[in-house]
Amino acid sequence: MASFQWANDIKPLSFTPKFIVPDENKPNLTNKTDLGVIPIINLNEKTEIIVKQITKACEEFGFFQVINHGIPKELCEKVLEVITKFFEQSYEEKADLVSQQHMEDGKIFKYYIKDQETQEKISMWGEAFYHTWHPLDFSTFIHKLPLNPPHYRDTIAEYAKEIGVLMTQMFSLLSQGLGLDKDYLDKSLRRSYTAQANYYPPCPHPELTLGLRDHTDFNILTFLLQDEDVTGLQVFKDGNWMDVHPVPNSIVINVGDQLQVLSNDRFKSVLHRAVTNEHKKRVSFAMFVGPDHKDFVEPIPDLVREGHPAKYREYRFEVFIQEFRNQEGKYRMVKEVFRIGD
Ligand code: OGA
Ligand code: NI
Repeated sequence: MASFQWANDIKPLSFTPKFIVPDENKPNLTNKTDLGVIPIINLNEKTEIIVKQITKACEEFGFFQVINHGIPKELCEKVLEVITKFFEQSYEEKADLVSQQHMEDGKIFKYYIKDQETQEKISMWGEAFYHTWHPLDFSTFIHKLPLNPPHYRDTIAEYAKEIGVLMTQMFSLLSQGLGLDKDYLDKSLRRSYTAQANYYPPCPHPELTLGLRDHTDFNILTFLLQDEDVTGLQVFKDGNWMDVHPVPNSIVINVGDQLQVLSNDRFKSVLHRAVTNEHKKRVSFAMFVGPDHKDFVEPIPDLVREGHPAKYREYRFEVFIQEFRNQEGKYRMVKEVFRIGD
């Protein structure tokens, strides 16, 4: 198991060989062939059109960006601003947060430097924190969020409400895309909600390291707000890494492992990672929605028919999470544990 020296590790990143990833993982920042773009979906279009576009995007890319999503631009900017301010506190202040939270419950609010994430004990060039959220019931989470910067709590509460609306809309569109009643996903799932804020400071050697190693998200859906100035997110498609260039006023949405299982492999939870930038810092904020930890997950029965046998066995979501933790420090292949052999 990776051992963290909690407060001691909270200091500015400085480049040492432990940040250098193996050759096969090094980002190719130059000589890139143009691999096209992940789909950009305009939510002002007619529902039938959007359903088709989203379904295709989930099948082929596992990722898409939405525009005209209805979340005010000023609010999105404010979210990235409070997150940036959080990370730009001094390292003494952040170290203090780590020791406080360590005494209480590290699971509720956790700030960390992305150290020793990989099997080879390679460090990632980034910092992060995570906490829970809820689209309606603020009392369950708001007091667990950072007090600094002062507007963190009210900004995130307002944004959580907006993402909740977008989430309901996505569940409806995805249900229709799967040929189910439009409220199928919304009605059949109890939820758990987590959020992760990422901060990638300028890096002297972006060609040698990563900000976040390749992974799939283990929830149902992810809503990612990203910095508009810097490209960093990359998605794996047909053996290549594609940049997800930021589109103004957009939200990136991606399929998580649980949606791949629910859809019986029709929708893909794909590998993605973040690369760093020599001159600019980058921030991103991912809001995840997953099943309730006690809920059972399996391919949706209506999608399992002749010629389409279930590709996964039923499991409790908490068992999946346990498996995820068991694979800490390894190249994670969590879904595979639950797959029914071909
Ligand atoms: C994540 C993630 C990508 C990014 O937090 O799961 O994939 O661009 N973030 O920071
Ligand atoms: Ni991710």
